[in-house]
Amino acid sequence: MSTELRIDANRLAARIEALGAVGAIPGGGVCRLALTDEDRAGRDLVQGWMRELGLAVSIDAIGNVVGVRLGIEPGPPVMAGSHIDTVRTGGRFDGNLGVLAGLEVIQALNDAKVVTRRPLAVAFFTNEEGARFSPDMMGSLAYVGGLPLENALATVGIDGESVGDCLKKIGYQGPAPCGQPQVHAYVELHVEQGPVLDLEGITIGAVEGVQGISWTEFTVLGLSNHAGTTPMRLRHDAGYVACAIAHEAREIARSLGGDQVATVGAINLSPNLVNVIANRAVFTVDLRNTGEGVLQQAERRLHAFAGEIAAAEGVTLSHRVLARFEPVSFDPAVVALVEATARRLGHSVRRLPSGAGHDAQMLARVCPAGMIFVPSVGGISHNVKEFTAASDLEAGANVLLHTLLALAN
Ligand code: GLV
Ligand code: MN
Ligand code: MN
Repeated sequence: MSTELRIDANRLAARIEALGAVGAIPGGGVCRLALTDEDRAGRDLVQGWMRELGLAVSIDAIGNVVGVRLGIEPGPPVMAGSHIDTVRTGGRFDGNLGVLAGLEVIQALNDAKVVTRRPLAVAFFTNEEGARFSPDMMGSLAYVGGLPLENALATVGIDGESVGDCLKKIGYQGPAPCGQPQVHAYVELHVEQGPVLDLEGITIGAVEGVQGISWTEFTVLGLSNHAGTTPMRLRHDAGYVACAIAHEAREIARSLGGDQVATVGAINLSPNLVNVIANRAVFTVDLRNTGEGVLQQAERRLHAFAGEIAAAEGVTLSHRVLARFEPVSFDPAVVALVEATARRLGHSVRRLPSGAGHDAQMLARVCPAGMIFVPSVGGISHNVKEFTAASDLEAGANVLLHTLLALAN
């Protein structure tokens, strides 16, 4: 290990700190929702670093940014990447780590004057979070041809603005063809965002795949009336129906057990007043499972219940699918390489699935792809308290370095 090339942990920490200051919010977190002014400022910073490191930077029509370092031979690069957008209450590591560790790998190779056989690339993809615009992983999905560009650009977010308009506004609708360069292999370092590594005291996760994701937005239309005078039997209460469906989502997850999770993360009632029955409820349901069959079962049960309760209350119910991705398995050779590299570098390692969605699951459609996880303290993420120890960040970045080198040489 001692003679092996290593990344500089202080330099990586300094970049995490500097990017974390862009859109910083109280408690140590970050708010850089996709395609906002804060996202632009973060993009400018990271793009500047890419250029300082000598990468050839291209920006495509959905705002994905790719920096390429030449190899001895031409051809598709081995790519490291992730995202730098965050949820509204994000931490400093989710996504950012994968991008900044990629840059640190480039700098370590530059310093050591190491040229790889294949080119290397570092990318950050637009709107991975999906918190402002659905679906999540939008940029990487478009990159691999899974979402027509015009559909992505026309997507309207939670504040009524479109992806295309926001890209223009922040100056990140670039001229590069979406999906270029083609990728030889893709590796994403990410914080686990769950409790497994932290609980087991293991430093590195070799990620075997990503669970299926199902996002639905329901709209319930009822009738507003006086909260004091309207007998219960005469109500058409959109708020009640929304809450009953939210309760049922939880009950479905409980009764299916295993990996099934269910979340109602956004709910809006109108007119949202203490003494007025809600005439409108708009809310989201996020269902996930590592098994596609069980996930479909959860979806069927949810829709059956929603239809019944809406009919019983005399309200109208509609829904739209915000995101739907089947479970993904990563390339067995890349998973094995991550595991072997972690072991060789002296780290404890285990295989595990990802509970969160990632750009790597999209890149897996077009090239061998895999992920490296490092522990999240307390399994906390999508929270300003998200934290990963400096020694784990360093370990993960070194595993990334040597995994990329193996793939590129
Ligand atoms: C995206 O990061 C998600 O898993 O929700
Ligand atoms: Mn992420
Ligand atoms: Mn996230």
